[in-house]
Amino acid sequence: MNSRFVLALVLSWAALLPGLVSADTVWLDDLNLAAATQGYGEPKKNLSVSDQPLAIGGKKFERGFGTHADGLLKINLDGAAQKFSVSVGVDDDVKGNAEASIEFIVVGDGKQLWRSGTMRAGDAAKVCEVDLSGVKLLKLQVTDAGDGMSWDHADWADAKFETAGGKISATGGEEKPAPVAPYILTPAAPATPRINGANVFGVRPGSPFLFTIPATGERPMKFSAKNLPSGLKLDAKTGRITGALKTKGEFTVTLRAKNSLGTAEKKFRIVCGDQIALTPPMGWNSWNCFAGAVSADRVKRAANALVKSGLVNHGWTYINVDDFWENHRNSKDKTLQGPFRDTNGFIVPNVRFPDMKGLADYVHGLGLKIGLYSSPGPWTCGGCAASWQHEQQDAQTYAKWGFDYLKYDWCSYGEVASGGNPDAKDIPLWGKTATNDAGAIYPYTVMGKFLREQKRDIVFSLCQYGMADVWKWGGSVNGNCWRTTGDIVDTWKSMSGIGFRQDKAAPFAKPGNWNDPDMLIVGEVGWGRTHPTRLTTDEQYTHISLWCLLASPLLIGCDMEKFDDFTLNLLSNDEVLAVDQDELGREATCVITAGDVRIYERPLADGSQAVGFFNLGAKPVELQFGEFAKLGLVGKQTVRDLWRQKNVATVDVAKDALPLTIPGHGVVLYKFTTAK
Ligand code: GAL
Repeated sequence: MNSRFVLALVLSWAALLPGLVSADTVWLDDLNLAAATQGYGEPKKNLSVSDQPLAIGGKKFERGFGTHADGLLKINLDGAAQKFSVSVGVDDDVKGNAEASIEFIVVGDGKQLWRSGTMRAGDAAKVCEVDLSGVKLLKLQVTDAGDGMSWDHADWADAKFETAGGKISATGGEEKPAPVAPYILTPAAPATPRINGANVFGVRPGSPFLFTIPATGERPMKFSAKNLPSGLKLDAKTGRITGALKTKGEFTVTLRAKNSLGTAEKKFRIVCGDQIALTPPMGWNSWNCFAGAVSADRVKRAANALVKSGLVNHGWTYINVDDFWENHRNSKDKTLQGPFRDTNGFIVPNVRFPDMKGLADYVHGLGLKIGLYSSPGPWTCGGCAASWQHEQQDAQTYAKWGFDYLKYDWCSYGEVASGGNPDAKDIPLWGKTATNDAGAIYPYTVMGKFLREQKRDIVFSLCQYGMADVWKWGGSVNGNCWRTTGDIVDTWKSMSGIGFRQDKAAPFAKPGNWNDPDMLIVGEVGWGRTHPTRLTTDEQYTHISLWCLLASPLLIGCDMEKFDDFTLNLLSNDEVLAVDQDELGREATCVITAGDVRIYERPLADGSQAVGFFNLGAKPVELQFGEFAKLGLVGKQTVRDLWRQKNVATVDVAKDALPLTIPGHGVVLYKFTTAK
């Protein structure tokens, strides 16, 4: 037999008995990984999501797919593959970060074939081998293991298919809603005066008072106030109330705004007592757009933009400087080099912030307030000088400069915790998670006390990602708001993953104490290099509606010099913002889950209910809503569409149904008021 004949014979047997021949290998990293969707960063071939060589639990891998929770890659096998094998785990590039936790799931034609269980930083890779005979569609999923997606760097290492020919191709990731051009729902504010914003304002006795009456309508406008308590004065032209109240008490004032077209009045409660931030703080923070490139000049420009855009007339107040106003421990950037503290131990800002007091005065001069950032460890999350062992001096300095808000992080505290904190022995080095509750609480008790001692109202915002159930004790350390999650990014996965998982903290929200699901990601965002938010039009309506229902602090994260009309429409709807600022201070929870639909309800001070009908699916949902009893609604209800600011129906809850169309990843936001 000549050799050609032998080969032909083998090939023909092979065609008949595919299982007997040695299979072809198709590497996962040779497929189009860009088809994958993930909660952060871009899909990476043979590298981790942050561009490091793949490594799990100390073991290096040459090939594989570096991704991030929540992630999905769909692969068309068409029955061509026989076996899939892979080593999975958290990439070592997270450097032991305790917040990293991931689960890997392999699904074939809708059936779960394998799951890893929760994997953490440093865990050895788990090997998965699954039989794919007959499977047409394979899904490789990475979840955040239920605790948010911070640091969830996931590796599918050494991932390969064995096939007997046929084509294997990556076809996509998470289904996305069809693109919808931005559409504006917020009606333009009338030219006649209208007083917007919160109905209540808290101040401590003796603290400098600053409140700018937020009012829309044609300028010039003349402001006045009836029953303003003594110690306070109102500037008729700017609408700014300043001064100080000597003693505790509650005062109901009538605010009035008048222009050539008419007059508006509103009752406004001033509560002088122990508690501030009686409604969630509203403003801007530098991090989500400028990150490490913040400067005093940019902060001033942001303050100007808040005024020029008109947002100041809707209650937006705080201009908050995040990390990088301090000098850095080892940056090559000259503007971040310099002494951390002066010879007496007082913090020294970097050269980008030559005059902190001047900056605060500038922002106050616009009728706004100003905030700052620090950390309880020696270094901030960005590696700049922080407050460790200088807490009292720092609180004094912030007050002396005239700051009104402090965001206080966690980073690097674990490194030093045991020096001075008797409860800290279980706190891991540089980790973000404290395993010991008392240890997690301690640094906030310290700073909370020193802030309180200042003769200034400084909103205290805890940024420790929800550790030790912060919502249960944040108020007891003088915290006014506290992050309940890791950092948000401008993806649906991130925003919805955070926003729709707030129920357990919700019962703890109340005037002066707010859960904070992180800052807003609408507009031009990007942590140093900005781009238009990657959220779709409807996802942005969902984001703002949900954050308002959640009574969340509202901190704009975008470059405010680049506002477009759509973003302004999202941030200037007074009826939607009124839900956030409602003085009852109750946070919405999810009362109905049906398929992709989530219905959130928030009771409001006037006895009405704000209700968000959300659709987590990519396709629009149409439904006839009749479950009013679950919302606690009785009798006849007037239904108001808050985004459109108009009544859309009156329903008799005993017999009517309300027709709803909810866009993919979108929302319908209604208010139900008992009809007269
Ligand atoms: C993170 C925090 C961010 C930002 C950053 C600054 O830990 O969650 O919002 O403040 O630190 O380095």
